[in-house]
Amino acid sequence: MRSRVWQLSGLLASALVLLGLSSAPRAAETIVLGGPELAAGIPGNGPLRISEIETWLDDPANHEPLKVELPFGLARSQANIVVPEDNPLTRAKIELGRQLYFDPRLSRDSSVSCASCHHPDKGWGFDTQFGVGIDGQEGGRNSPVSFNRILSGAQFWDGRADSLEAQAIGPIANPIEMGFTHDECVERLREIPGYRLQFDKIFPESGVTIENVGKALASFERIVVTGPSPADYYEPLLLVETQYAELLADLEEFEEFEPDAYDLWVELSKQAEAHPMSDAAKRGRELFFGERANCVLCHSGANFADEQYHNLGVGMEVAEPDLGRFEVTGEERDRGAFKTPTLRNIELTAPYMHDGSQATLEEVVDWYAKGGHPNAFLSDKIKKLDLTDQDRADLVAYMRALTGEFTPVRVDRLPE
Ligand code: HEC
Ligand code: HEC
Repeated sequence: MRSRVWQLSGLLASALVLLGLSSAPRAAETIVLGGPELAAGIPGNGPLRISEIETWLDDPANHEPLKVELPFGLARSQANIVVPEDNPLTRAKIELGRQLYFDPRLSRDSSVSCASCHHPDKGWGFDTQFGVGIDGQEGGRNSPVSFNRILSGAQFWDGRADSLEAQAIGPIANPIEMGFTHDECVERLREIPGYRLQFDKIFPESGVTIENVGKALASFERIVVTGPSPADYYEPLLLVETQYAELLADLEEFEEFEPDAYDLWVELSKQAEAHPMSDAAKRGRELFFGERANCVLCHSGANFADEQYHNLGVGMEVAEPDLGRFEVTGEERDRGAFKTPTLRNIELTAPYMHDGSQATLEEVVDWYAKGGHPNAFLSDKIKKLDLTDQDRADLVAYMRALTGEFTPVRVDRLPE
């Protein structure tokens, strides 16, 4: 009896861990991402003092490579996490990356930090159509989110950076973003004793270099993840309810014949009630994963992103459109294709699409319903959808049920 329930699926297994019903052992040094501990900053208040940094760096525990696990919800993609072998996560490196991420001194005039365009209070994206850099300059693309990057390999809307490490140093030298050069940025960081101390200790062979800036920033970004959403609590419940549909018609029989499954169902129901999904969201889920809307064709896996590039026709109506992935590969089929973005916490990060051209989730759903914008390179997965007004509202409701808590992150405590 027991084994039947216990072997249902990986999703259920992670739900069991969440509910404390599974005794699956977790290595002692393993950290479940999403909690406050890795991004709380060096203990204390105000600007970081040298003595505080020294004490922090002297603790060997802060230099131990960490094993990390994803929180419930994201956990079913644990096998897909990307942490390069030459850049293991350590507390000290993550903390250094946190400081760099929020430090405007990485830009020429010390006015723009990574957070200026990817801010925790704005869903780790930004609410302007385009990213706004130094001197108020605008690029032509919308700021994507910088969370759940641990599940993502190539970065940017067109995937032109192979890794988070490579991506992170791009904006520093981009004339319309942070407007600096890598050499000048490194020079400035070397002159800040608190930074020099940290780089020298964390990267003993190389100290302050632009590659190490990238490594630290990438390490910080990898620990910023989304926690479970109402939709995550609903999945294992739905699984059990589908498996035991017949028995659920008579709860007394269910309890008598499948006591383990019954207990599990009671627990999962409680959890789902504490994080409720509306009926509209439940119907929206059916559409999202079903034949009629089939959003899961591209928004797949725990992060709702296939890490592939597709042409939806966004921005293709103009004479010289942004050709996206084509600029990187030169392949005809990549014309106007962009990387599938995550849909987690999507309600927090309007406007939408690579050019920020769509203001609301309703507008996005209407875009899909009309089959995108016709053009010679439109993805063959994009077709007109037969959706009623109710269906459209339901799809939006489902996307709104994908919101979970972010890793709490301290935004101050930078070196003096
Ligand atoms: C001026 C605004 C701006 C600043 C400053 C900025 N970014 Fe970005 N960021 C963007 C835009 C716009 C894109 C998308 C550009 C593209 O795809 O061509 C982007 C892309 C990214 C991505 C790729 C996400 C994905 O889904 O592929 C990451 C990660 C990222 N930025 C992190 C950072 C970090 C780290 C910093 C600081 C070193 C930073 N950004 C500074 C605007 C900005
Ligand atoms: C063919 C693959 C594909 C399918 C199918 C698909 N999407 Fe997308 N989705 C993408 C890509 C690629 C983008 C970014 C396109 C761009 O900016 O040019 C995107 C963007 C989005 C965005 C905006 C995200 C952001 O951060 O800007 C939302 C919301 C969205 N899709 C929801 C849906 C819904 C709902 C469905 C089903 C009705 C769906 N998608 C079906 C690939 C797909």
